[in-house]
Amino acid sequence: MNLVDQIQKDFLPKHLAIIMDGNGRWAKQKGKLRVFGHENGTKAVRRTIETCAELGIPNLTLYAFSTENWNRPKLEVEALMRLLVSSLRKELKQLVKNNIKLQAIGNLDSLPNKAKKELFEVVEKTKNNTQMTLTLALSYGSRAEIKNAVKEICNKVKNNIISIETIDESIINQHLYTQNLPDVDLLIRTSGEHRISNFLLWQIAYAELYFTDVLWPDFDKKDLYEALINYQNRERRFGKTSEQIN
Ligand code: IPE
Ligand code: IPE
Ligand code: MG
Repeated sequence: MNLVDQIQKDFLPKHLAIIMDGNGRWAKQKGKLRVFGHENGTKAVRRTIETCAELGIPNLTLYAFSTENWNRPKLEVEALMRLLVSSLRKELKQLVKNNIKLQAIGNLDSLPNKAKKELFEVVEKTKNNTQMTLTLALSYGSRAEIKNAVKEICNKVKNNIISIETIDESIINQHLYTQNLPDVDLLIRTSGEHRISNFLLWQIAYAELYFTDVLWPDFDKKDLYEALINYQNRERRFGKTSEQIN
């Protein structure tokens, strides 16, 4: 049986998040500069978006640039920002064609003007699309996101907009960048690293974690299918017993 036929269409993650890691090592293995890895990483991004849209996964969130990534060498950061602009330009057509809505989360103010402009343009032009929501985490840090949420909630308490007693998990959710997204069901990280690196800490509370040694530029349809099949064979208990679930 084909891999894709092993995927149960009515049991797909409602929210898939991916830490796209390993571009630099992929390039190094080939004796090339890190930027070459990032360039090839964009091809894996395109493949992944297409496959998720084909399968009918409603929400895909991609970790593209972390708050900590600003500390990389200036030349690499500049190359990544240039690549962001050119990818957004190239992908707009595909996003429109496939009815995909693009949104971005993170400290977007810190992006260079050119990237911001391009980003907001694609967000605007795809805002009414309904097949899939593609969220790019850019200059994203989960702790910063939670800190901002705490500040906003405190301000609302101070100004008597809400009372302390009414603060619950759903109010916290509503103050995160991901307020319009369901919790993450499946989190994939490529490149053999087993860590979260400040990504969606609140939102992955009950996500299934999937790690693969494949470096991001090599991540293809087959790898995604394997991750999804693996996910579908897990028992998500959410604290209950196996007997209660079955
Ligand atoms: C992921 O690949 C892309 C970004 C973090 C922007 P890396 O650039 O982290 O590649 P490795 O981990 O050094 O191989
Ligand atoms: C995480 O990868 C960030 C992105 C994939 C954008 P890193 O390569 O920056 O993470 P660490 O530094 O290895 O934890
Ligand atoms: Mg890395």
